[in-house]
Amino acid sequence: MPDIPEIPSEISELGARVSAVLAQVESAESSDELTAILSAATGKTGPITVARKAMSQVDPTHRKSVGMRVQDAKTTIETAVEARRVGLGAAERTARVQAERMDLTEVVGTPTAGHIHPLTQAWEDLEDAFIGMGFTVAEGPHVETDWYNFDALNIPKGHPARDGFDSLYVNNGEEGSTVLRTHTSPVQIRTMQAQEPPIYIIAPGRVFRRDTADATHLPVFHQIEGLVIDKGIGLAHLAGTIEKFTQAFFGEEFHSRLRPNYFPFTEPSAEFDIQRPDGSWLELGGSGVVHPNVLRAGGIDPEEWSGFAFGFGIDRFLQIKHGVTDLREAFTNDIRFLEQF
Ligand code: PHE
Repeated sequence: MPDIPEIPSEISELGARVSAVLAQVESAESSDELTAILSAATGKTGPITVARKAMSQVDPTHRKSVGMRVQDAKTTIETAVEARRVGLGAAERTARVQAERMDLTEVVGTPTAGHIHPLTQAWEDLEDAFIGMGFTVAEGPHVETDWYNFDALNIPKGHPARDGFDSLYVNNGEEGSTVLRTHTSPVQIRTMQAQEPPIYIIAPGRVFRRDTADATHLPVFHQIEGLVIDKGIGLAHLAGTIEKFTQAFFGEEFHSRLRPNYFPFTEPSAEFDIQRPDGSWLELGGSGVVHPNVLRAGGIDPEEWSGFAFGFGIDRFLQIKHGVTDLREAFTNDIRFLEQF
């Protein structure tokens, strides 16, 4: 009777050894630990390698199937390590999110419903007043070409009015060709190009100037532009519209007046003021009859159409309406300030 060759223990115990490794994998707590378990299991003295070495003692007729078992054992361990690694990744992420979580109730106390910013309130109230008078709302980009911001508004290169705007230029294209819009007036041109007259639009938006922030000035502020283009429009329509707006927005006891001024894009030009019920005057913004060159730049024939435009700051509005002494306070997002509105 031929000897039945002994099955070497490295092979007969492989199943149990793999189970032991799988248990370690299951309880591993970090990616590093998994790497160590895997290299121990597949390294020189690990169960896989020693089983492979012991194959020479296996009856040749069984070698192939035993070889496959050893290979399967290795795959089982590798798969388990990978699965655990993925699981640990998710757990580590959850733990990190948990650890970095902020207790917001600590910051604001009992959560209460918020409300829109007082500037946005003023912005929306102004829109409502003009929409009620038949205007629609137009928009333009914050980053403008110098053509829209200046040239098209009758302020050619080298015109002294350019300096007055304290522009912030953007490093793009030819030097001085791209600017953060210094006023909402470029929306006049964009609107004329985009739609046929008659035009009755307002354009509220953010504008930028190279100004040092103080109690009444910010380098980023907000304006609302108005533009009307129709047949036979003149200064009287401007005065009438400003007066109507003043009463609609502030109340019947308020009045307005125009004071001669100069803007390159309007002729004649006027500053407009609001009179409070106590008789005092408040300077609000600029206005005038649209200059023929501006109409031409917008592709409108000045022989056929005419119009007026106005523009004023919204931030000042908020300041006057709520008695904010330092405008900077309105934009630091201090809850104690915002809660008052
Ligand atoms: N754009 C002018 C400014 O920023 C205001 C203005 C608008 C004046 C429209 C006249 C007509 O000062």
